[in-house]
Amino acid sequence: MKKIESLAEYYQDYQESIDHPESFWEDKASSFQWMSKWSKVLNWEFDSPKVEWFVGGKLNITENCLDRHLEIRPNQVAILWEPNDPKEKVVKITYKELHIRVSIFANVLKNHGAKKGDRICLYMPMVPELAIATLACARIGAIHSVVFAGFSAKALADRINDASCNILLTSDGSYRGSKQLCLKAIADKALESCSSITSCIVLKRTGEKISMKPKRDFWWKEEISKVTSLCKAQKMDSEDPLFILYTSGSTGKPKGVQHHCGGYMVYAEYSFRNVFQYNQNDIYWCTADIGWITGHTYIIYGPLLAGATTLMFEGVPTFPDAGRFWEICDKHQVNIFYTAPTAIRALQACGNEFPEKYDLSSLKTLGSVGEPINEEAWHWYNKYIGREKCSIVDTWWQTETGGILISPLSNITKTKPTYATLPLPGIQPCIVDLNGDELLGNNVQGNLCIKFPWPSMIRTIYGDHERCKNVYFSNYPGKYFTGDGCKRDHDGFYRITGRVDDVINVSGHRLGTAEVENGINEHPLVIENAVVGFPHDIKGQGIYAYIILDKNSLSENELTEQILETVVKEIGSIAKPDKIQFVRGLPKTRSGKIMRRILRKVAEGDTSTLGDTSTLLDPSVVEGIIKNSK
Ligand code: WT7
Repeated sequence: MKKIESLAEYYQDYQESIDHPESFWEDKASSFQWMSKWSKVLNWEFDSPKVEWFVGGKLNITENCLDRHLEIRPNQVAILWEPNDPKEKVVKITYKELHIRVSIFANVLKNHGAKKGDRICLYMPMVPELAIATLACARIGAIHSVVFAGFSAKALADRINDASCNILLTSDGSYRGSKQLCLKAIADKALESCSSITSCIVLKRTGEKISMKPKRDFWWKEEISKVTSLCKAQKMDSEDPLFILYTSGSTGKPKGVQHHCGGYMVYAEYSFRNVFQYNQNDIYWCTADIGWITGHTYIIYGPLLAGATTLMFEGVPTFPDAGRFWEICDKHQVNIFYTAPTAIRALQACGNEFPEKYDLSSLKTLGSVGEPINEEAWHWYNKYIGREKCSIVDTWWQTETGGILISPLSNITKTKPTYATLPLPGIQPCIVDLNGDELLGNNVQGNLCIKFPWPSMIRTIYGDHERCKNVYFSNYPGKYFTGDGCKRDHDGFYRITGRVDDVINVSGHRLGTAEVENGINEHPLVIENAVVGFPHDIKGQGIYAYIILDKNSLSENELTEQILETVVKEIGSIAKPDKIQFVRGLPKTRSGKIMRRILRKVAEGDTSTLGDTSTLLDPSVVEGIIKNSK
């Protein structure tokens, strides 16, 4: 696929993509290997919603990630793996080897009865086998559901059960900095309530002692020794599901966002090439975990479709010290580096001496994703990491969008601190006011919608199409609603201002307030609680929980500890509240609705503008909350 090479070309392509979307995307799709061609480029309506791209086309995404590179770049490194411990050996897997290893594992899955359309859950550390197994699912047409290996047994079980997965892939343990986590023990706990799982295949990573249940649990290594390395790619319809990925929404239950083969493939490569301006032989590194959409699209699919070398890192930014990211950039001469604002802020706080120790001259493009990047972090990234010679791309997108929608194109379009800037070709953003009217022209602010389909957009929520319609397509009929607030400035540049729903963004991870509240409620002494986000220097947003307790004999400190443990057990450590305040009552309207606006103000430490509280059922609870706020 050819990439955009100048500003003029960007504007020209953008216009073309609006005027003739079908021929525009047909041209992009033609650079891939299809088993048979589509009969129509696009069918769509945003009411049901129903969106179909490359209708009737047949393909397998792994042929495009692997087979088609075999003649041109068999010996090029596809996956460059950097272990948690810098003393452990780096692993380099060439395209040829990756093709073989994916085929072998695909045969293992088949041996365990997996077939097209089955759901397979992956709960694994950031090791090459995770990428291999993900691709192996795609090879045989099984739908992968990768669950981030920081989630609790309960959260894992909920996700396995929601999709009725029949196979679980996991490892004995995982290394995260100086910590070791026993994933298999967590998986065992989850499987107690997952009757759909018939096989659990376990990779040996840490070598710790684990229990293996006969006839259910199998060792990865033994299983791969039983099969051949030939596995024909399953023929998939362009609109067959490729994967499910769970994400949080404003209600308690996570949503299984579903992406389909053809459109996702085309947009993953298109956006990867253009945003990062990937050139042959560049070393590309995205620091995300494959358990999130960033890892799916920009560690695995986008780079491999483009025939790139993708670096995969097992560890954390601060181990053995806060120079680890920069040491890796230096060691592997990384050219394109993609990370999250929360990591940038955390490393900035550790001091400039860490990046200063390393040769970062190979870097050309620096990416940011996950939350709005604040001005200070942007400048530090630019100065201390980019040495003022790199292009910074602030990429806005979501699990639901499948790929980057609004972002500068590295070294081509203009950048502007804290702005995601301009939509990629094919993307038609619009800003609406609360009545749903589109705000035209520049210098406007409102809610961000997208008014025309793009190939990698969400198709449905697994098992709940009605919810997909309600959450994304009902607020503003005829438009996809992102849940984000947005401003378009005098230059026509977009700046994302953050979520406008009950979703909080903690260190770039999305959590629904209701989800955290449900977790806290599991503690037997909690009567009721309300959770809001508040500005946090490193995490972007922190979690502030207001909790009403049953009469009890425990000390508040002891209870705080227990409640934190409950949340870790119910969801995982990412959902741990940063502040807990025990309150006598919550500010509720006469109809019983919690006025979160007031709780947010208190959490922000801004109690001067609480607004009208006279409509509350009991206005006096607010005083108590303010007096004891943290
Ligand atoms: C939400 C999506 C997309 C991969 C990571 C998160 C926020 C994401 C930016 C950005 C401002 C951003 C939005 C969005 N977000 N990137 N560059 N600037 N906000 O995926 O978990 O689906 O979260 O993250 O609020 O809606 P996700």
